[in-house]
Order: sequence, then C-alpha cells, then structure tokens
Amino acid sequence: MRLGSAVKSAPMKIPKGLQPLIDDGMVDTVVRSLKSGKEASVYIVDCGGRLRCAKVYKEAEQRGFHKLAQYQEGRKTRSSRDARAMGRRGRHGRRVQEAEWKNAEVEALYRLVGAGVRVPAPHLVHEGVLLMELVQDERGDPAPRLNDVDITAEQARKWHAFMMVQITRMLCAGLIHGDLSEFNVLLDAAGPVIIDLPQAVNAAGNNNAFAMLERDVNNMRATFGRAAPELLETQYAHELWKLYEAGELTPDSLLTGRFAHDPTAPDVNAVLEHIEDERREAEARQRRREEADAV
Ligand SMILES: Nc1ncnc2c1ncn2[C@@H]1O[C@H](COP(=O)(O)OP(=O)(O)O)[C@@H](O)[C@H]1O
Ligand SMILES: [Mg+2]
Repeated sequence: MRLGSAVKSAPMKIPKGLQPLIDDGMVDTVVRSLKSGKEASVYIVDCGGRLRCAKVYKEAEQRGFHKLAQYQEGRKTRSSRDARAMGRRGRHGRRVQEAEWKNAEVEALYRLVGAGVRVPAPHLVHEGVLLMELVQDERGDPAPRLNDVDITAEQARKWHAFMMVQITRMLCAGLIHGDLSEFNVLLDAAGPVIIDLPQAVNAAGNNNAFAMLERDVNNMRATFGRAAPELLETQYAHELWKLYEAGELTPDSLLTGRFAHDPTAPDVNAVLEHIEDERREAEARQRRREEADAV
C-alpha cells in the first residue's frame, strides 16, 4: 500500500507504553504519535512492514474514574468473586475494573466486525495496548474525523442513513456505542468508520441503555443536520428502541425516522384542558342557578 507523506518520516523515540510490544516482537518501529488525549495515546506503528494503529490506555488515576460504573453496568464479569470485588471498590475490584476497561474495546471491535459494522479490524491487546487497523484516507494518510471535514447536504443525508444502519446493527449485536459523536467517526475512502469503543454499553443489561442510545443517535442527527437541516426532524432513537424492546429489530429493519408517540397513552395537556372546561361549565351552571333564584 502506498503511504501518505505524513507517515513517511523517521521513527520516533519509543513511548514507555509501547516498549513491551517492541520487546515481544509485535511492533517493529513507532512511526509517529497521532493523538494524546485524557484517556489514551494513539500512535502509528510499523508491524512487519504494515502500518497499524496502537492505542495505549491511560491508567485509571490519570483517566478519572467518575462515570465508569454507569457504562460497566450489565457487563459480564469473570466470576462472582470479581463482581463482588467491583461492587466494594477495593484494590482487587479496581484491578478487575481496569482489566475490563482495557479488554472492552477489543471485545466490542470483534463483535462489531462480526455484525457487519464498519470499525477498524482489531489485531490484539497486549499489556494494556490495543493494536488495530490504521484507518486511512485515499492518499494513505490517517483518516480525518467527521468534525474535520466540510460535507455537502447530499453526503450528510447518505452518511446519516448509513450511520442509522450501523447503529441498528450494533444494537442487534447487543451493543450501544455510548460516546458516538463526530469526534469518534473517521472518514476513509469508502465512508464512515466508527472508533473509540472502550465504554460500549451492553444494551440488555444497562438501565441507562436508552439514554445512551438516544444521545448517540441525536449526536449524529445534530452533526449531519448542520449540512442537511431536514434531518433535524427525524426520530430514530425512539423508533429503534421500541423495535429493540419488542424483539423485532433486525439488521435489515427498515426505519422511517418517524415515531408516533403512543396515542393510547394519556395526553396530560388534553386531560388538564378537559378538567378546566368542566370547571368553567360547572361555574356557569352555578351562576345560572343563582340568577334564577334571584328572580
Ligand atoms: N484505527 C484508527 N485509525 C486511524 N486513526 C485512529 C484510529 N483510532 C484512533 N485514531 C485517531 O486517534 C484519535 C483518538 O482515538 P480514540 O479511540 O478516539 O481515543 P480517545 O478519544 O479516547 O483519545 C482519534 O480521534 C483518531 O484521530
Ligand atoms: Mg475519541
């Protein structure tokens, strides 16, 4: 494969987190750093002449522990002892939680590849580092993120529809991304590729599942709606969830983006208006009675 100019420079000094992969022969050289964020540092590496992407997870202390439990709820833990330990938040519990965090992304990637979702192909996890396919643009450079590019209304409509299918397939595979946004979607020559899945949520076992799905779906709506405003009217989250809960969602489900809220559910405003009408009528009756008495 032809390499883009941005990845041809001399190898960089080896970051500490990648040393074990060099020592164990999984990585030959580190080409360059792609991004260093709060939760992970991402590098382009050379593995036997092939460029790959290496994601080095930060330790919990650097990452901040705050919202982890919300995402991990409903995940299968290795044993009941581990599950109890996680509940207590002792040292063992933290280690279990830490290992889960570092394995969750590769597990989600394998599952999603199997479900036909466009994600980078995973290779392995070793010493807290995920090695995966490097998503590249048509020139061989690392693919841009959705937020980095200007898109036409036509592209927005096409890619929005594509993302709704991707989210449907994920949900059929039992997963919700949980942090889907224009920052976690790359654009390669063929279109969107979804990345960044350590927090992926188990749709069946998590009480926040619908809220997470709705946020993911509506983030996509807002992003693509900037270029194609008619998308802002769509209601995919409710439609998806209703089919999912009824056990009727399939990877080929044809979604409409329209959602009729249940007509048999009480409409609070209508009920209040009705009560107000009744009250006014009763008042009028009372007034007529008083007028008649006064005559
Ligand atoms: N497989 C990949 N191929 C190309 N670039 C990637 C890949 N994975 C991550 N990146 C780049 O690294 C950045 C950070 O990765 P991400 O998984 O989103 O971690 P985080 O947002 O937690 O730092 C992404 O925005 C993207 O630019
Ligand atoms: Mg990210």
